[in-house]
Parts: sequence; C-alpha cells; structure tokens
Amino acid sequence: MIILFIGDIFGVPGRDALFHGLYNIKKREGVDLCIANGENAASNGRGLSGRDACDIMESGVDVITMGNHVWSCREFEEFADRMPVVRPANIGRGRPGKGYLVTEVNGVKVGVCNIEGRAFIDIVGDDIFACADDCIGAMKAEGAAITVVDFHAEATSEKKLVGMYLDGKVTAVLGTHTHVQTADETVLPGGTGYITDAGMTGISKESIIGMAYKGVYEKYALGRKSSFEPVKHGTLEIRGVVIDADETTGKCRSVKRIAETVVPPV
Ligand SMILES: [Fe+2]
Ligand SMILES: [Fe+2]
Repeated sequence: MIILFIGDIFGVPGRDALFHGLYNIKKREGVDLCIANGENAASNGRGLSGRDACDIMESGVDVITMGNHVWSCREFEEFADRMPVVRPANIGRGRPGKGYLVTEVNGVKVGVCNIEGRAFIDIVGDDIFACADDCIGAMKAEGAAITVVDFHAEATSEKKLVGMYLDGKVTAVLGTHTHVQTADETVLPGGTGYITDAGMTGISKESIIGMAYKGVYEKYALGRKSSFEPVKHGTLEIRGVVIDADETTGKCRSVKRIAETVVPPV
C-alpha cells in the first residue's frame, strides 16, 4: 500500500497548494491513502475549522492529523468526533476528538495515531510512550494491519527517540511541527519508516515557517508585542513523504521525500 503523508498545511496557501498540486502527486505515486497534518490549516495559521477540514478533504486527503494548535480554533471541538481527524492522544484528556482512528483501504485496515512530544512545546502532554503503546494496541485490536504515527514534536532527539522506541511496532513514525523537512528519511532496523520532520505545505521560502518576517522580527529582535501574520503571496510548496507499506507484515518497504513547487493555473 502506498501512503502519502503531508507535513503541516499552513493557512490559505497550504490549502491552495493541495488544491492545485495534490491530485498530480497522488496519481504519479499511485497513492492509496493520503494523511495530512492540518494543525495550521486555519487562515490565521492556528488550528483547523470545519471548512478547512472539508477543503483539505476535497483536495484528496483522507485523514487529518493535528498538533499543539489543536484547540486554537474553538470550532474544532464541534466536529472532531465525527470527521476523520485525529488529535494528539496524550493531551486534553476528556476533551472532544480522538487520538487514533482505523480506516479501511482496499480491504486493508490502516490505523493512524497522533502523539505530541513533551520537549520545548507549549502544551505538555501525558507520557508519550505509555500513550503510544495504548493507541497502537487499540488500533491493532481493531484489526489494523498498517499503523502510522504522526509524532508532533519540537526536539529532533525526542523524535528520533520515539522513532526508535516504536521501531518494529508500527509501520511508520513521521515527525511534524517544526515545518522544516529533514533529510533523514529511512527504514529503521525493525522495519519502521521514519523521518524527523515531513516539512510544511504552503509558503515556506518567503516566510518564517509560514508567518511573515516583520511580526516575527519585531517580537524576537525588538521585544515588541506584535501579531504574527501568515504570508499570503509566495512560492507554493507541498512537502511530505511517500511510504510503501507491506500489508502482510505491517513493515515499511521504503520512505521517499516529497518536496515540490506547485504553480497554480493563471
Ligand atoms: Fe505546525
Ligand atoms: Fe505544531
């Protein structure tokens, strides 16, 4: 099974990039299932509204994962339970939304799980390892032959730690949150596909991980209170990875980085 995983979709440009570019990538790569991180898909770059989720799914995404911005858009709690959206399983215990789901693709059950890291991140969640074990056990109990974990974290070391902890237990551990695609995609010794960060989808080149330079400079260099504004014009890019998953063993055959520019028709 070929799974396309898309890194953090950022704002309107991120959704535009998918609208104009996702179909071709899916066709070219022979994608069976598309998973995308949507924690920044709202127009202000924070959270996910119901309309954003519908936009993303209309472009060809099957399952949306989230991250530390999960609660930024209040509307999320209204639709999270009834849409194919997963949010970090180890934060917001008792709040709406699910930490994993199992979907079926061509007769094969695929589990998708979202876990958040604890290092250098604003919402510090519960035990990563216990939560991951619980979610993986639950997905397998529901018949998932293939399991994918979106590990949403800041520290590269924590991401690799979780990748190695889950090696052999899941099909892939794919990092999100930093918005900068890493060049360490690999299949770990136990057969788990891994990348530290899948990168961002939207305008990367002309922004600071999605936001305009001015507001970020004023805050960090001048100490001014300033609002971060998403960049609206620039180069549209889709970044992520393509996983080739073995339905029989649940292991990953290969991980390939996707990093391409999307040029909308004029
Ligand atoms: Fe993000
Ligand atoms: Fe994040």
